[in-house]
Amino acid sequence: MCRGGAQSEFHARAHAAARRKFGREVFVRGVVEISNFCRENCHYCGMRRDNRSLDRYRAALDVLGEALLHRRPSVVTDINLQAGEDPVAVREVALPLVRLLRRHTKLGVSVCLGTLDPDSYAALREAGASAYILKFETAHTDGYELREGPGTLQERLENIRWLAAHGWFVSSGFIAGLPGETPEDSLESCRLAETLPLTGCSVSPFIPGESTPLAQAPRADIELVLNCMAALRLRRPDWIIPAVSALNIGQPGAGYRRGLAAGANLATINLTPPALREDYLLYQRERFIMDEEHLLASLEAVGLRPSTTGLIRHLESQRTPAPSPLQLA
Ligand code: 5AD
Repeated sequence: MCRGGAQSEFHARAHAAARRKFGREVFVRGVVEISNFCRENCHYCGMRRDNRSLDRYRAALDVLGEALLHRRPSVVTDINLQAGEDPVAVREVALPLVRLLRRHTKLGVSVCLGTLDPDSYAALREAGASAYILKFETAHTDGYELREGPGTLQERLENIRWLAAHGWFVSSGFIAGLPGETPEDSLESCRLAETLPLTGCSVSPFIPGESTPLAQAPRADIELVLNCMAALRLRRPDWIIPAVSALNIGQPGAGYRRGLAAGANLATINLTPPALREDYLLYQRERFIMDEEHLLASLEAVGLRPSTTGLIRHLESQRTPAPSPLQLA
């Protein structure tokens, strides 16, 4: 794996590719974790259904609505609603919240709600969500099955393709450094991402999750994660590649800045009500919460600034227009 001087040069090339396409601007999205109920049982994830040590919640619509309409940081142009795989939260929280945001704001809306049925996808689209984030987790078919990823990898990929074919901007993601996987497996995940109809892809470092079967496994090498991000950026200059907050685990602040300097062009601010945050358990209860102040300082440290154009607005401006009837004739 690429390290040292060659690695610095590789990341600098990825950074330059992102800046050629996006300038100094980084999209800023607010994330709201609306429910931690989950019907899946992924071995890596703290919200897996077998984790009985977790207090489960669905956020109250009025609390979220009030926070998002009246108290969101001014740099936020887009919102992502995230949850465990919880169809009840889709109906009772996500759908009304998307409608509320559509009615009262110009915010772009993304959702990350797991594998759902076509009617639920359609209802979310109709309510006004534009982007769906559906992570394929790993390209390693045996690893996906072994870790009980949602359904099968093939189904997950079919859902990604279905969403893209039905008018969604689709983003995906994978976990680098899952136990038992080699750097070559992570490269394979980069290659798989490139075959999919995506507008972006995240790379998350594997973090051993509290109260999960992988609690004792070693954490991913952050260098592997950064190299995957840089590789994706060089192959897909126009993609939206987030600097995930888990980059900060182990090296507070520094990992995040390195992600931004390796080609990332999206940063997130956590807007989950503080009382609920602790139970949204992906890996550890102690997690680095990115707020507006930390984010602006990180961007400035690497010479970047928040984009005033929203992410969804940007994607819409890049969409190839449908051919006119004359062109079809
Ligand atoms: N390490 C890294 N990423 C994780 N996720 C869940 N658990 C972990 C972990 N231990 C990511 C997965 C999942 C999303 C909810 O969070 O990609 O889809």
